[in-house]
Amino acid sequence: MPERILVAVAWPYANGSIHLGHVAGVYLPADIFARYHRLKGNEVLMVSGSDAHGTPVTLTAEQRGVTTEDVTSEYQAEFLDNWKRLGISFDLFTSTHTDNHARVAQDIFLKLLEQGHIYKDTMRQPYCETDSRFLADRYVEGKCPHCGFDNARGDQCDNCGRTLDPQELIGMACRICGNAPVIRETEHFFLKLSEFEKPLLEWVREQTHWRPNVRNFTISFLEGGLRDRAITRDIKWGVPLPLDGYEDKRLYVWFEAVIGYLSASKEWAEASGDADRWKPFWQKECRAYYFLGKDNIPFHTVIWPAMLMGYGGLSLPYDVPANEYLNLEGSQFSTSRNWAVWLPDYLDKYEPDPLRYVLAASMPETSDSDFSWREYVRRNNDELVATYGNLVHRVLSMVYRDFDGKAPDPGALGDPENELLDEARRRFQETSESIEVVRLRAALGSAMSLAHAANRYLDRKEPWRAVKSDKADAARTLWVTLSVINCLKTLLYPFIPFSSERLHTMLGFAGSVRDSGWTWSHDDLSPGQPVEKPEPLFAKLDEELVEAEALRIGQSE
Ligand code: MF3
Ligand code: ZN
Repeated sequence: MPERILVAVAWPYANGSIHLGHVAGVYLPADIFARYHRLKGNEVLMVSGSDAHGTPVTLTAEQRGVTTEDVTSEYQAEFLDNWKRLGISFDLFTSTHTDNHARVAQDIFLKLLEQGHIYKDTMRQPYCETDSRFLADRYVEGKCPHCGFDNARGDQCDNCGRTLDPQELIGMACRICGNAPVIRETEHFFLKLSEFEKPLLEWVREQTHWRPNVRNFTISFLEGGLRDRAITRDIKWGVPLPLDGYEDKRLYVWFEAVIGYLSASKEWAEASGDADRWKPFWQKECRAYYFLGKDNIPFHTVIWPAMLMGYGGLSLPYDVPANEYLNLEGSQFSTSRNWAVWLPDYLDKYEPDPLRYVLAASMPETSDSDFSWREYVRRNNDELVATYGNLVHRVLSMVYRDFDGKAPDPGALGDPENELLDEARRRFQETSESIEVVRLRAALGSAMSLAHAANRYLDRKEPWRAVKSDKADAARTLWVTLSVINCLKTLLYPFIPFSSERLHTMLGFAGSVRDSGWTWSHDDLSPGQPVEKPEPLFAKLDEELVEAEALRIGQSE
């Protein structure tokens, strides 16, 4: 029975490019997971989009002197192009700046309001008399009252991850003019988070399959007490309130962005010609996995689940495999210091699969990890080229040259052959099990262990010698290795899909790996099957690249 899997991927703010930290933490793990489940024949829906509203976008537009639409449409186009080139296989990557999204967000707001989960109240907000405006969220900065971080913003501290109200900031300053704001009364709508504290705690405590860091963070967040939070803002960019008299207010960006998972599912269904197709993913048996970085945890394990509980009839997250951070050459990614490798720059110069491979091999699943160009070149040259690529090339070249370009007939298998095929079955199982529980780094490790085992077998059997003295033995060795290579093609497909597709064709199969399923049997590749003249799967990279690229990091553009 196919299972239903919703792959919900955090929505990037449409105010800047994606960097490798985002790729390793969010988009790549989501894509690996989705590709695996599609191969298994499960029904997968993978959605996300540009987070187009809120103060991140308005600040960028003001700084650049362009409109908010200019900013969001520029990045929407860039994101779509990047996903295509990196092979991030969204079923839909939309934007929160659509009519559909506004309708769905307003419907949730109204229903929560009708059911008493949202109420109206006045609150005191920072107001800049110089700029004559309320200072929502990122328009005010100050010291975090919890951890002492100097550049905490009005809604969240990027250092300790706590959500904040602007008045809590120590030494508040206006981000536009630097002056100290005054405090003014203003009317806003509040989500009654306090009433969800107990049900959320009960729910999270039951989620023993969650990563310990995600579950523990959420439990202590909830045990710290939930306060009602304003879910509207005094700004003009965003989803309007579906009520008369609030023309100068908009829904808070986080309140509406998380609704994107639902609105995108509806948009996808509509576009597929069956407008009800989103329902099974939200109202029936379905596991929903949310992929995000650790700074996004409370919005997905507390606020969004509270909204879903209040709304009723829609499924809560099944798992939230949030990642820790990827660092770059030993320091945190930082947009302001340009301490980053930007995805569009990477894709202009290099191949997608080596990046996917290197980031998956060092994915920050249980602790922060590091990307360095040295490690990138090392893993490319030692692991992709030397271990995997050479294995494929050696075997296919011999088959092409010495066996007429056809998979040889193995005859009877001996112990070394059966051992290697057993190991392939074991690694296949191991890789599957690891992906199921979103341990992608371990999954990749299992697959690569099989490549190592195949190399050891090949080196022991030396078919390049045997071909002259005992051709039947060479035939056996090459067929068994081909068969294991065919297994690696499938195991590595979620991680490095472009090279798996090329290998699939070189092995003489028609169509796409995508359609051949998450299965492997040693005799999938029949003796006599014609193979192609092999082309190298990966290119060796020059060591000089390390220094040249490392020097570029942190330079102003
Ligand atoms: N735009 C947010 C960020 O980059 C993530 C939003 S996830 C969503 O941190 F689900 F709320 F959209
Ligand atoms: Zn100001």
